[in-house]
Amino acid sequence: MNQVYEKLIKCRDIVQKKVNLVPQVALVLGSGLGGYADEIDAVATVSYSEIEGFPVSTVPGHQGRFVFGHVGDVPVVVMQGRVHYYEGYSMSDVVLPMRLMGLLGAKTLFLTNAVGGVNQSYRAGDFMLINDHILYNVPSPLIGENIEQLGTRFPDMSEIYKKSLNEKIRAAASSLDIKLQEGVYIQFTGPSFETPAEIRACAALGADVVGMSTACEAIAANHMGLNVCGISCVANLAAGLSKTPLTHEEVQEEADKAAPKFKALVTESIKRFGKA
Ligand code: HPA
Repeated sequence: MNQVYEKLIKCRDIVQKKVNLVPQVALVLGSGLGGYADEIDAVATVSYSEIEGFPVSTVPGHQGRFVFGHVGDVPVVVMQGRVHYYEGYSMSDVVLPMRLMGLLGAKTLFLTNAVGGVNQSYRAGDFMLINDHILYNVPSPLIGENIEQLGTRFPDMSEIYKKSLNEKIRAAASSLDIKLQEGVYIQFTGPSFETPAEIRACAALGADVVGMSTACEAIAANHMGLNVCGISCVANLAAGLSKTPLTHEEVQEEADKAAPKFKALVTESIKRFGKA
């Protein structure tokens, strides 16, 4: 059996021994949103360290556990803390959690993150619905022997971020009177923030925000047939657009400030995903 798949099945078996809730929605919490997991109606938690071979996040502000429970009536699994490629994990480990949540039964993957704003009209604290992405200088998680049990060798990526889910997120934002930008996410490897020249290149390529986590996760999820959607929280104006040097603390601070609105938007969106 493919080694990546074998590891995945082992992780799935460990989690299924501990939890019997079958999630409908898998939610990945980005910087600032970690506290959301404490607000859901939890029935079980599994620390990443309890799952043999599972990658553990090394980034300050990222906890490491799955929380299973309900948002409204919708059964969910929430990832409180993700791992990033820049932490030194292989790409197959970086996306293992998304694949695992898919194998646990999730049909929808909801990705959230903190990003730098590239679009000159964006401001710190804005939210952006991700309607497409660019994977830039980051290896595809699908490189290597194809895992036939998950999906096809050459998957279509023309609608990774599902229009039907996006419509529900827009409706959720409007019902809460939350302004929602909409645009393209570009993923760089990090961990350094980009240079001003790189940010000008991002803009020329058609990106609206830049981050270090999400596009590779969306690709792996789309490969296995999950319905993907995502919202970014603009934590800072990207390099060259901001007057001050960028720091992780600033990113966290801004993401924390935006968290109450972000949480409300995520909750309302998930409730709407649960309805046909
Ligand atoms: N660049 C890349 N990733 C980020 C940024 C940024 O400016 N802010 C938050 N995550």
